[in-house]
Amino acid sequence: MTIGSGRAATATGAGPAPVAEAGTTGRPLPPHAPLANAMALAVGLRGALASVLLGSDDAVTTAVVAALSGSHLLIEDVPGVGKTVLARALATALGAGLARVQGHPDLLPSDVTGVSVFAQDTRSWEFRPGPVFAPVVLLDELNRTPPRTQSALLEAMEEGQVSVDGTSWPLPRPHLVVATQNPVGQLGTYPLVESQLDRFGLSTTIGYPDAEVEQRLVLHDGGRDALAALDPAGSPAAWEAAIDATSTVTVAPAVAAYAVAVVRATRTAPSVRLGASPRAAIALIRCAQARAVLDQRTYVTPDDVQGVAVACLAHRLVVDGAAPTGRAGRAVVDEVLAATPVPVL
Ligand SMILES: Nc1ncnc2c1ncn2[C@@H]1O[C@H](COP(=O)(O)OP(=O)(O)O)[C@@H](O)[C@H]1O
Ligand SMILES: [Mg+2]
Repeated sequence: MTIGSGRAATATGAGPAPVAEAGTTGRPLPPHAPLANAMALAVGLRGALASVLLGSDDAVTTAVVAALSGSHLLIEDVPGVGKTVLARALATALGAGLARVQGHPDLLPSDVTGVSVFAQDTRSWEFRPGPVFAPVVLLDELNRTPPRTQSALLEAMEEGQVSVDGTSWPLPRPHLVVATQNPVGQLGTYPLVESQLDRFGLSTTIGYPDAEVEQRLVLHDGGRDALAALDPAGSPAAWEAAIDATSTVTVAPAVAAYAVAVVRATRTAPSVRLGASPRAAIALIRCAQARAVLDQRTYVTPDDVQGVAVACLAHRLVVDGAAPTGRAGRAVVDEVLAATPVPVL
């Protein structure tokens, strides 16, 4: 399915029009052109991803929200459930290049960021960019990568650049890192510390498909075959315009207050040693805006906040006595959502 076209989103020359506010009639205004393009791209992406990854609407939605909000994505799941095909489908659907890095204990920081090599002909040092310079980077088994390499990658993600020998090299924009972790078996792994997990805007799991979907898979529906046949739903330029337009989606003060209340409640929840940060609160609003765009709306509802809260917050929480996987955090976020009063708009 290719509903959003790269062509449509080039009509952004005039810059974003004023944000649609609820008019005097109380009804929201129609979306301005860049936002309408972002909505079309979002639907195109969802269709593309759902044709490849079968039976996991949540993971598909989270991946689209990551793309539109410009957030990095962490996928925590066991091998063989479609993590790699999801990341590949996302890159293809965005019309963007993908580089894949397999995490292992010998992976050096320069294997990710790049190296300076001495060029004999010019007798000077030249920088050879590493895989992190691809628009979409798939880093498999991030927790099998030693801490030095993890921090080199996460620093590059945070700064939007790589510094080698005193020179900074900017990463492409937009830039999306999809990292995967296997939550089973902690032997020989280097769990990410909290400050590093906080750099991921969203985390998701995929889970096992149900029997009906698994039967379709073994008969070559979806998966690799669908990926090979996938057409781009956009281009990097359309993607960047969509990220900008998504940030113009209206957030009413009551909705912002609700999101902040949810984030703050994670800090005082029983058994939570470290709650969600203000960075998480910002991400929560950005992702709720992206969910509104996917739902073809120009304003965020409390439902949007609830819809992205687990994906946005769970992986950042440190829960007493729990393994460093998102599971305990997900339960806490569900409890916090159930206990926080929802504003009526
Ligand atoms: N829900 C799913 N939808 C589509 N394909 C799936 C799904 N689950 C597993 N697969 C298929 O299983 C194989 C392994 O998937 P892959 O993405 O490499 O797994 P992972 O990266 O999680 O180890 C691929 O052929 C993929 O198409
Ligand atoms: Mg894989």
